[in-house]
Amino acid sequence: MSTHETIAADLQFDGPPELMNDLDYLQLALKLAAQGVALASPNPLVGSVVVRDGGIVGRGFHRYLDLKHAEVWALEEAGERARGSTVYVNLEPCCHRGEGKRTSPCVQALINAGVARVVASMLDPNPRVNGRGFSELQAAGIEVSVGGFEKDARRLNEKYIKFVTSGLPFIHLKLASSLDGRIATRTGDSRWVTGEEAREASQRLRHEYDAILIGIRTALLDDPLLTDRTGRQRRRALARFVLDAGLNLPVNSQLVRSAGDAPLIVFSSSGADSDRRTALHARGVETVDMPCAGGRLSPAEVFAEIARRDLTSVVVEGGSEVAGSLIAERLIDKLTIFYAPKIIGGRAAVPSIGGQGIERMSEALQLDEVDITCHGADWEITGYPVFADDEPEQG
Ligand SMILES: NC(=O)c1ccc[n+]([C@@H]2O[C@H](COP(=O)([O-])OP(=O)(O)OC[C@H]3O[C@@H](n4cnc5c(N)ncnc54)[C@H](OP(=O)(O)O)[C@@H]3O)[C@@H](O)[C@H]2O)c1
Repeated sequence: MSTHETIAADLQFDGPPELMNDLDYLQLALKLAAQGVALASPNPLVGSVVVRDGGIVGRGFHRYLDLKHAEVWALEEAGERARGSTVYVNLEPCCHRGEGKRTSPCVQALINAGVARVVASMLDPNPRVNGRGFSELQAAGIEVSVGGFEKDARRLNEKYIKFVTSGLPFIHLKLASSLDGRIATRTGDSRWVTGEEAREASQRLRHEYDAILIGIRTALLDDPLLTDRTGRQRRRALARFVLDAGLNLPVNSQLVRSAGDAPLIVFSSSGADSDRRTALHARGVETVDMPCAGGRLSPAEVFAEIARRDLTSVVVEGGSEVAGSLIAERLIDKLTIFYAPKIIGGRAAVPSIGGQGIERMSEALQLDEVDITCHGADWEITGYPVFADDEPEQG
């Protein structure tokens, strides 16, 4: 059985079919969509359920390599039973041919199959769709209902939404901190701040991202590998990026030694030593010169370059200076700090967020929609930064 079939078989609804309403089916579509994590990017996560006479007759979710979209998988499973059915999907069906004409429009497939109704959680904000999918369905006489589980649907596709609406990747800053806000001791030692369970959760978080980024001092002090070690399937290897203006990354570091197995790209300045550049290239490392702002590589340019590679999301794993500069430039979309119930102490210990900081408490960065989860003895706190410009205007 393919992974697709295994997942579909696992997702049996436990309860009599007649008790299912629209929301139950939409929830199932969302669950199916989530099976595409690390497999669908740069496309959205989409799941679909076809229901006829109170029973599920088709299910599908999208994986980039399959070429077929979720609705098409589900309609194929339903076959003739799709005629007169209701199709549930977490995102507006597409009305355009996919990149390089790889895939055909789902709207046409729905019309051809003779479905009676489409229920979707949200409109696709991709400028190529943005309501056109719904309009074409309605023009063909198909009833369209939109809105159930919209918040969950938006959360599920937050990376895709940021990418298609801004042309930039979704940026998630993740750190592991002591209770007193330190991410390493005064000597730079950070192995390990949190326990095994939090570190496993951190690996699961990595799995959801297309790319990972760190600063050169983290590379020098921690010698990390920065790979996805969840063992879960992914379409593209996690792309690893280092901010290193002077090309100081050692050729014997774990990052460079593994460059043949997982992509490693070093952002440098044009003035960096050419012998170092040659030595890195010889080991399969790509270097990209970036403009500098105030003596530092420009993070905005860095993320624009990452997006040009069709990478829709980046998890930033430190260190302190990089975290401070991204927050100062308001580039963070999501923030996770794993807190260990430990005190490191000391003025010279590495603070979680470096840089200049702020003068007044009123300028502190507020997080919204905060989730707190326990992992063994540690806590994960995740939220969405509310930068001043995001706040609703006072009437
Ligand atoms: N507990 C955790 O979660 C965690 C995670 C990561 C790191 N750490 C710890 O944090 C420490 C390293 O943090 P750090 O603050 O010293 O260094 P860092 O943030 O890892 O690296 C800073 C360096 O990155 C380069 N860089 C290039 N562009 C930059 C930009 N726009 N903004 C900021 N930096 C830029 C600069 O070097 P160039 O000018 O030479 O390019 C800068 O000196 C280590 O002790 C490590 O163990 C802890």
